[in-house]
Amino acid sequence: MSLQTEINRRRTFAVIAHPDAGKTTLTEKLLLFGGAIHIAGAVKSNKIRKTATSDWMEIEKQRGISVATSVMGFEYKNYKINILDTPGHQDFAEDTYRTLTAVDSVIIVVDTAKGVETQTRKLMEVCRMRKTPVMIFVNKMDREGKEPFELLDELEKELGINVRPLSWPINQGFSFKGVYNIYKDNVELYTPNKQTISESIQLSDINNQELNKLVGDTDAEKLREDLELINGVYSEFDTEQYLAGDLAPVFFGSALNTFGVRELLDCFVEIAPSPRNTETLEREIDPHEENFSGFIFKIHANMDPNHRSCIAFVKICSGKFERNVNYRHVRHGKMMRFSSPTAFMAQKKETVDDAYAGDIIGLPDTGTFKIGDTLTSGEILHFKGLPSFSPEMFKYIENADPMKTKQLEKGINQLMDEGVAQLFVNQFNNRKIIGTVGQLQFEVIQYRLLHEYGAQCKWEPINLYKACWIESNNHTELENFKKRKAQFMAVDKEGRDVFLADSNYVMQMAQNDFKNIKFHFTSEF
Ligand code: G4P
Repeated sequence: MSLQTEINRRRTFAVIAHPDAGKTTLTEKLLLFGGAIHIAGAVKSNKIRKTATSDWMEIEKQRGISVATSVMGFEYKNYKINILDTPGHQDFAEDTYRTLTAVDSVIIVVDTAKGVETQTRKLMEVCRMRKTPVMIFVNKMDREGKEPFELLDELEKELGINVRPLSWPINQGFSFKGVYNIYKDNVELYTPNKQTISESIQLSDINNQELNKLVGDTDAEKLREDLELINGVYSEFDTEQYLAGDLAPVFFGSALNTFGVRELLDCFVEIAPSPRNTETLEREIDPHEENFSGFIFKIHANMDPNHRSCIAFVKICSGKFERNVNYRHVRHGKMMRFSSPTAFMAQKKETVDDAYAGDIIGLPDTGTFKIGDTLTSGEILHFKGLPSFSPEMFKYIENADPMKTKQLEKGINQLMDEGVAQLFVNQFNNRKIIGTVGQLQFEVIQYRLLHEYGAQCKWEPINLYKACWIESNNHTELENFKKRKAQFMAVDKEGRDVFLADSNYVMQMAQNDFKNIKFHFTSEF
């Protein structure tokens, strides 16, 4: 197969959802269709969040197990599909944000009864920022839920994106009879069954009386009315708008009952984007370029003390990656060869000889990589768009063992390179502040510093509301601001100016008083 064909047939995406909406179940069913697994219940990685939050070692152990399921590749109808898993536990939200930088599209799962929930809203913000094309799967139609038209309105309003149903439910809950596939013009009849795949019935048109025989007169009439309304209210589905990230097609179904999943997948492979262009500081990269390029979006540490290696996950942005070929590690400015790159097929991790743009490969890492690093065939490129978000929790980190200052320093730096949390150094008192999205990271850091670096840290409270990156074209105003707020000024790991606001009020006052300064809540601007 030519390089171009290989790249065009790739579909790399993530399934995102608020916990419990059915992400794991849907992922598993997609794998079933691809023949990648044979029994339901095989994908367990997202059960992590169901352990007590305080027991993070248990969580880490499970995260270790879930390395293999971090990326799941499979073949379906001559497409090569790569699903990127995202951590279910919200304390690892930063991981999820970064994973979203490595996908070309996203499927959002929404629970029909719960509608749009907080986590979904946040993740959608990231998709909107990056103009990532999204499809929505409304799950659990076998249960009572919100009225579908109302739910569509909610999706539009809460997710800030236009929607267009491409399938439509015939009732729901106890009287759920199936869905009408608007995209293909056929009826899928529902039989509750967790393992087998439903059969579809093609209708010449919606007025065909066959429909009445299949679902009864009342439901057939209701469906016809609904479809008329849909066609009146929503314009024709436009793939270009979907690809531009402006329009989300919506499907209804029940992942648990393997219902509505095939329609989603069939439509997905047809319309979802193959690898897209990627921005770098230097130029835009076309995935079809002959030369290889890629970036590290995730580093997964193995928590097993007897086997303390990491895996760096590389998203291939262009060309073909080959085993044992020299590639340039741009930040270090040196050439490197990889003898055991791994790819992820189904749930197995295996050594591969080559991989193409769109694929994710894992490289064994002993501290050579950090998040955002670029590998290329030789060109000097720096990929953009691996944002850090303003953390939600902050603590001072202090040395608890003066004999181990160096170790602590090294440990903190490496853990930050892995993207475990963010480090800010207060410019006023030179104290180090760690910012995270959840309490768990503090425990993870403390444990890992001790066990991997022999260093001991202790945490001290700091009252902070937000950290934001500041910039301005007006040099005098910027300097003036930094002087006025000297106690609250810090730098991040890259040396960029960060303002630490201790309350929402202070934040707003600063924005009001310094109109020429831009306050950013993500590090990419
Ligand atoms: P998540 O990864 O998004 O967190 O959700 P997950 O797939 O684990 O699903 C959450 C719960 O919702 C699971 O039940 C799952 O069986 C159920 N579920 C998923 N899809 C459907 C559906 O279409 N209909 C119905 N009725 N339920 C669905 P659980 O009891 O928490 O877990 P389990 O013991 O069944 O594994």
